[in-house]
Amino acid sequence: MISIKLINEKDIDLCYELDSNTISLWSKKQWAQEFKKEGTKIFGLLIRKLVIGICVYQVVLDEAQINYFVVKTKFRKKGLGSYFMSYVIKKCEQLNLKKLLLEVSQSNISAERFYRRFDFSTVGIRKNYYKDGSHALLKEKKLTTK
Ligand SMILES: CC(C)(COP(=O)(O)OP(=O)(O)OC[C@H]1O[C@@H](n2cnc3c(N)ncnc32)[C@H](O)[C@@H]1OP(=O)(O)O)[C@@H](O)C(=O)NCCC(=O)NCCS
Repeated sequence: MISIKLINEKDIDLCYELDSNTISLWSKKQWAQEFKKEGTKIFGLLIRKLVIGICVYQVVLDEAQINYFVVKTKFRKKGLGSYFMSYVIKKCEQLNLKKLLLEVSQSNISAERFYRRFDFSTVGIRKNYYKDGSHALLKEKKLTTK
């Protein structure tokens, strides 16, 4: 019933719609740019055929940067985000990557707690980075490679 699949550019409307209904991070043009970025992979988390989560990450050398990670509001706090994140971590470990990086607002308490549970540690702060004046926390997780 729950699955994860790679999303390709023809599903751009779906990504934009989910984003518009959640954190409204990117315009349609920005989504189009993400699909074109070298090393970028976009995964969807599905319940049956319905996409309820999206993860965008970009591999650069031996690191991956998570640029987008969202679960639709009504499906949160059911363990689905953790299932999705575990999958992304496993994928990156299979690629022998050394680190996973991301940015999260200091005011996003639930996301910060979520990432802490996955052993992401804060390695830097970008002061007043977001429009609302909140700081961006730069987080990193060391991956287990074979
Ligand atoms: C961060 C985010 C992805 C987490 O997704 P999620 O599906 O809610 O994640 P989970 O359900 O696995 O875990 C969330 C919490 O629910 C709890 N939970 C999991 N299953 C549960 C259940 N059956 N009953 C009650 N609580 C449960 C978890 O313990 C976890 O608690 P904690 O993190 O407060 O310790 C989601 O909140 C989100 O999309 N946020 C908006 C976007 C965002 O901020 N992204 C990050 C910055 S890019």
